[in-house]
Amino acid sequence: TSSTLADRYGRVATDLRVSLTDRCNLRCTYCMPAEGLPWLPTAEVLSDDEVGRLIEIAVTRLGVTEIRFTGGEPLLRPGLADIVARAAALTPRPSMSLTTNGIGLDRHAARLRAAGLDRVNVSLDTLSPERFVQLTHRKRHADVLAGLAAAAEAGLGPVKINSVLVRGINDDEAAPLLRFALDHGYQLRFIEQMPLDAGHTWARDRMVTADEILAALEASFTLLPDPDDRGGAPAETWLVADDPGTPAGPDPHAAPDAPTRAGRKVGVIASVTRPFCRDCDRTRLTADGQVRNCLFAREESDLRALLRGGGSDDEIAERWQAAMRGKLPGHGIDDPAFLQPARPMSAIGG
Ligand code: GTP
Ligand code: 5AD
Ligand code: SF4
Repeated sequence: TSSTLADRYGRVATDLRVSLTDRCNLRCTYCMPAEGLPWLPTAEVLSDDEVGRLIEIAVTRLGVTEIRFTGGEPLLRPGLADIVARAAALTPRPSMSLTTNGIGLDRHAARLRAAGLDRVNVSLDTLSPERFVQLTHRKRHADVLAGLAAAAEAGLGPVKINSVLVRGINDDEAAPLLRFALDHGYQLRFIEQMPLDAGHTWARDRMVTADEILAALEASFTLLPDPDDRGGAPAETWLVADDPGTPAGPDPHAAPDAPTRAGRKVGVIASVTRPFCRDCDRTRLTADGQVRNCLFAREESDLRALLRGGGSDDEIAERWQAAMRGKLPGHGIDDPAFLQPARPMSAIGG
């Protein structure tokens, strides 16, 4: 049987985000407390084989065409390259990307590329090693820069950078981060902070908004509308016109995803002030085998119990479809009755 992951609002999920671990080697203040969190017990985390089987069901029976590996920090998962290689062998072959904090990427990039990984997105919130420690509680700024360079070198591009601006710490870095990204050929995207922190301390009036970020960028750069179709992508993108290294506007002779072209873009992921739920094409799998139909879902569907209880591929596919049919039209952050999901970002996978 072949089918799709459709919901009642006309959306079809073709993009699967797989969290491979809830653990992380950083402690970004907007995500995790300095002391860490109670990690999932190993027995509850899906094995490489179990993850591989669920990916196979998603790709061969449910119409999933893109897979993104997330965490926590997915490079901490020993079987990552094996999981990628198994998925790369599927027909049709899914496109595969990784969202990482970049630590250890310098050592893993070439092997992951060889296993079949297509792209990486790396989190980097500041150009200052001192602020990096303030933001993440770890002295690893240089490791992230090395990871970025290694990813580009290994052909895992266009390499994207995800930045979260935190008021009072790095909220003056919008333009410098863009300068850095343009200089190195990385595509920068700013993410509005979302109510997904473990401490439940998010406050809308402290969040750095898309409007603020764009105003800061426009003080130093000219941004032009991006002619490329956004599709289901969370990032709204602009072409950076006054980059002295490259001509303004789209280059008709460039390949659609040529690194030079991608490097001249900047994006904003404005989940809070400009929600894009209407075009959402995502389904999520947690490290412990639960389907989440939304980043902000309050309910999950247990595929691990089916897997470990001897469920057939058909049964697993049906439960996954049922989970997606229950997807709500939007995240409801603006609803007075909004409640943060029980799982924090690090256990959902961003
Ligand atoms: P590409 O554009 O394909 O490179 O990937 P991406 O931007 O979807 O992936 P990435 O993991 O880099 O996601 C960046 C951020 O986008 C995440 O950390 C989230 O903040 C946000 N995001 C991703 N998916 C969703 C979603 O379904 N809903 C919302 N509200 N935000 C999302
Ligand atoms: N709001 C927005 N983005 C967040 N990230 C982690 N926590 C939050 C949050 N509460 C970002 C990370 C990383 C991406 C996967 O999600 O910085 O770039
Ligand atoms: Fe780790 Fe990512 Fe959370 Fe930072 S945002 S602590 S890198 S899981």
